[in-house]
Amino acid sequence: MRRSLVVANWKMHGSLNENQNWIKNFKSADLNKLASIDIAICPSYVYLAQMQQSLLDKINPHLSLGTQDVSSNTNGAYTGQVSISMIKDFSINYVILGHSERRALCFEDDELVANKAAVVLAAGLNPIVCLGESLEERETNKTHQVIQRQLQAVLDVLKKTDGTSLTNLVIAYEPIWAIGTGLTASAEQAQEVHGLIRAQLTTELSAAAAQSIRIIYGGSVKPNNAHELFNQSDIDGGLIGGASLDAGLFLEICMAAQ
Ligand code: PGA
Repeated sequence: MRRSLVVANWKMHGSLNENQNWIKNFKSADLNKLASIDIAICPSYVYLAQMQQSLLDKINPHLSLGTQDVSSNTNGAYTGQVSISMIKDFSINYVILGHSERRALCFEDDELVANKAAVVLAAGLNPIVCLGESLEERETNKTHQVIQRQLQAVLDVLKKTDGTSLTNLVIAYEPIWAIGTGLTASAEQAQEVHGLIRAQLTTELSAAAAQSIRIIYGGSVKPNNAHELFNQSDIDGGLIGGASLDAGLFLEICMAAQ
C-alpha cells in the first residue's frame, strides 16, 4: 500500500519572518492526525537551516524537508549550484526535479533531469520528477506522447544505475497549463495520465516497482479540489505551489490526502 505524499513547493517565496509565522500556524494543528501520510516542505535553499531547526521535531516523523533542485555534479567549480552532499547536511528527504519552471527558465532537458534523479537516488533520497504537457500539447492531443518521452528519458538512465532501488522514486504529473493558473485538470483527466504513467512503469520496470512508486498530482490543487483528485486510484498525493504558502490551506489539503 502506497503512503500518500503531500509536498509544499514554496518556489522563490518566503522570508525568515514569513517562514516563522507559517511554522507557528502549521504546528498549532494536531499533526498526529496526519501521521498516516508523508509531508514534505520544500523552501528555498537559504531557509533550510531555519526550517530544520524550527519545523522538524518528533511530533510527526513523517514530516520532512525537501529542496526544489540539486546539481548533477558532486562538487567543484560550479558557481551557484548546490550539491547532494550539501543537501544531505540538512535532514532532507525529497528533491523536486525537472519542474516545468526549471525546464522553461533554466533550460533543463530530459537528460539533465534524468541524471539529477540518478544522483538523488544514489544518495538514498527521494527524487520527485515532474512531468507535464503544455496547453498547446494537450490541445493537439500530444499529452501521452510528451509524458511518455519525459518519463522514458528518466527510466532509461535509472535502469542503468546498478543496485539503486527505484522504489524511492516519486513522479509528479503537473500539466503546465494548470500550474498557478487556477485551472486544474479534472480528476478524470489527471487519473488518465497517472494510469498511463503507472502502466509505463510496469512495462519498463516491474509490476511490483510500479505499484510501490508514488505518482502525485500538481497544478492548482486547493482544499476544494484536493479530495476528489486524491481519491483517484493512481493519484498518491499532491505537489502544492500557491496554496502551500498558507499553512491553513496546506493543512486542509494534507487532511484530504488521508
Ligand atoms: P500551483 O503550483 O499549486 O501554484 O499550481 C504547483 C507547482 O508548480 O508545483
